[in-house]
Amino acid sequence: MTTPSAPPASQPEKRVVTVAIENGHALVTIDNPPVNALGVSVRKGLMDALAEVNDAGCTSAALVCAGKTFVAGGDISEFAGPPPLPHLPDVLDAIEASETPFIAVMHGTVLGGGLELALACAWRLADANTRFGLPEVNLGLIPGAGGTQRLPRVIGLEPAARMAASGKPVSAKAFEEMGGLDLVFSGDPMAALASFRDALPARPAKTSTRSVTDADLTALKAEIAKSAKGAEAPLIALETTALAARLPFAEGQAIERQTHLDLRQSAQSRALRRLFFANRAVTRPERLRDIEAAKIEHVAIVGGGLMGAGIAAACLAAGHRVTIIERDSASAEAGRGRVEAIIAKDLASGRIGEDKAEARRAKLEAGDSYAAAFDADIAIEAVFEDADVKRAVFTELVAVMREDALVATNTSYLDPNLISRGLPGQGRFLGLHFFSPANIMKLVEVVGTDASSAETMATAFAFARGLGKIPVETGVCDGFIGNRILSAYRRQADYMVADGASPYAVDAAMRSLGMPMGPYELQDLTGLQISWANRKRQRAAGTWPGRYVDIADRLCEMGRQGRGSAAKKGWYDHTAGKGAPDPEIEAMVAAWREEQGVTPKTFSNEEIVMRIMAAIVNEANLILEEGIASSDTAVDIVWTEGYGFPKHLGGPMFWAEETGIDRLREAFADVAAQSPGSWKPAGVFKG
Ligand code: NAI
Repeated sequence: MTTPSAPPASQPEKRVVTVAIENGHALVTIDNPPVNALGVSVRKGLMDALAEVNDAGCTSAALVCAGKTFVAGGDISEFAGPPPLPHLPDVLDAIEASETPFIAVMHGTVLGGGLELALACAWRLADANTRFGLPEVNLGLIPGAGGTQRLPRVIGLEPAARMAASGKPVSAKAFEEMGGLDLVFSGDPMAALASFRDALPARPAKTSTRSVTDADLTALKAEIAKSAKGAEAPLIALETTALAARLPFAEGQAIERQTHLDLRQSAQSRALRRLFFANRAVTRPERLRDIEAAKIEHVAIVGGGLMGAGIAAACLAAGHRVTIIERDSASAEAGRGRVEAIIAKDLASGRIGEDKAEARRAKLEAGDSYAAAFDADIAIEAVFEDADVKRAVFTELVAVMREDALVATNTSYLDPNLISRGLPGQGRFLGLHFFSPANIMKLVEVVGTDASSAETMATAFAFARGLGKIPVETGVCDGFIGNRILSAYRRQADYMVADGASPYAVDAAMRSLGMPMGPYELQDLTGLQISWANRKRQRAAGTWPGRYVDIADRLCEMGRQGRGSAAKKGWYDHTAGKGAPDPEIEAMVAAWREEQGVTPKTFSNEEIVMRIMAAIVNEANLILEEGIASSDTAVDIVWTEGYGFPKHLGGPMFWAEETGIDRLREAFADVAAQSPGSWKPAGVFKG
């Protein structure tokens, strides 16, 4: 897009908003990298530009942005304190009231304050690839500069409420169809602007003076309440938007502004903003910042099963060439088929077009020979969870690959040091633990071995970020950060089921906290066999911590290994599609208790949540004490991104802080007393 000419030499500071006037038409350019956020300097710059344009008596003023996007939002680093002057609502009111009408000419992602800015302009033009949204709810907020009041006046109440409450962006095509755009163009924005200006329509009424037809939002409200799972901002966004049908603009805007400012102080918004900022810090570790990452072009993936295929699809989507290596040619073709099915699904859903689908298919190869990995820049092993099999794969890979190419394991629990021990080129090995489905889930745990070089780690982080993932560094332990906490979570859930709780009550309690599903529903979804194998391994190695409840093992032995198993049963009965609680399981668990001489106790919803959270927070603290995770936010990112812990609760560590460590200490004492000898207390829970 347009780049403003260099500022004159006499100008000491680079201006973030510049004005160029030609033939009575002004071009106002915002240039505030990286995303032209509406920080105080931009707000001031816009006020100055407004004065200049009006003083010159311009016929029109086009508002454009330099760089990769139009304004992509407010400056959220300002949200912690009182907003400095001028305030955005005042700037936007002034733009709307300006004698010289403004034309927003947009590209990239027009989000939050960016969309509010566009709505204050008289006309809106956008490149066909532009996306529009009000994502404030994702930070526990609602728009604060008239967005909820102007948007319904432009596109109608229901679509506006949907955009504000969901936070999801819409395409230029969709936004145009809603009536949000005056022109969608492809190609040169300046040419599109020139022809629009040549036939400039009569200036429309100010957005703030238009009226809104009321609409029945009951169904939408129910839909939003369901998907919000305890997040408060979505419903507030919906209700605030609905004010547009009842109140004059100024009154609605004043309520919106106050609500926005109040929400900035809310625990949910603090939780979400902390995660947002932590995300950047965690995915770019300080110590790797100055180390150059090697370029990754060709990715070899050994094992084209569930995980291998998902990882392959993610790599293809990022533009890499991918070679799948399988045990034999039939398995290789099956692996290719899995990847192609993912591509076909993306195509069918409209996420990608045929051109992209074809480009991805063209970069995919599958075979049974390691020779194909000779020029791979990284190999990722995703074969069965068996240390010997994985070691054999690594041995084959190092025999054909360049010594500086990375070799990674996607193991869930095993130690990458053991898989790579004694192999040549020790610095290049590591663990890259993707989550299922790997083409969708953003979390990747990056596991350094004792010998992983800094270059290997820097390359792995850059590679994962390039896939659009959220890489988090973890030290080596059984299950790394995420699955180790998951094991503690499951253990405590199993102890309560053993002692009297129904697995269905445990699931319901964790859902009431805001988890998308409880531990038993999750097991049914992912399959019971990997954790079964892991329990067997830990017991054989003598590392199982304390009391052992073998109810899940019995399910596995009965062939009830989850939704995807042949029996289509696990903790729930999935034979009729949606999983249903199964009286057979209740009876089996009751019989188990009798056999073990357990007198069943009752656990309230609150007790279940507190005991499970105490076990989780204890394990998370041990992980921090052992240096497995570098910070409490790293733990929180792993659990919100990889395990569905509600983001508006900030992750287990933030939740613990908000809930109060004393309450958790009490709950942990109950946990410890319930299963003596099974829990090592973390420092905060000692004594
Ligand atoms: P899977 O059973 O779906 O796929 C494994 C694939 O590896 C199969 O296609 C098999 O033919 C192939 N394979 C086995 N031995 C091979 C060899 N020697 N050479 C070439 N190919 C070989 O298993 P899944 O679920 O994809 O798991 C793979 C790895 O990823 C395991 O280490 C697992 O612990 C890990 N993982 C699994 C997750 C999950 O949710 N399933 C999540 C994260 C990691």
